[in-house]
Amino acid sequence: MKVLPLPVDSPHAATHPSSDRPSIIILLQEVQEKHGYLPRQEVIRCAHEAGISVAQAYGVASFYNFFKLAPPGKHTIRVCLGTACHVQGAQGLLQQLQSELGIETGETTPDGLFSLETVACLGACSMSPALVIDGEVFGRVNPRQVPRILGRYRRRE
Ligand code: FES
Repeated sequence: MKVLPLPVDSPHAATHPSSDRPSIIILLQEVQEKHGYLPRQEVIRCAHEAGISVAQAYGVASFYNFFKLAPPGKHTIRVCLGTACHVQGAQGLLQQLQSELGIETGETTPDGLFSLETVACLGACSMSPALVIDGEVFGRVNPRQVPRILGRYRRRE
């Protein structure tokens, strides 16, 4: 069977195994591990190292939602949208957090204090709806509790 090359604009083209260059995904992962996100200068360096354009590197970085293009907040809030949490009102909880923080999912507050993310399951289904902040799990969270929960982290500053 003949394998056709991937289109140049495909995010997967940058990782085609026939290339002698390092995989752009591996390079970007290393940068994110080091910095917590992908600083522009590092993306440019990775693009050169992988032998692709900067636009292609950003295409890969934005295609995979585990890559972050902006620095994370001091505290990362992860809201579970898994089935058990969804049934128990996780969407309303997420909307309350977005409203309180003034950001959308995947964004960081302008003061750099909070980042907001969603996950498929936290492994705390019996406590749904659940969220986790920096590893601290909050279960059976009512949206009305959101200001108090955020306040705990704001007061620590
Ligand atoms: S579905 Fe939310 S913790 Fe499992």
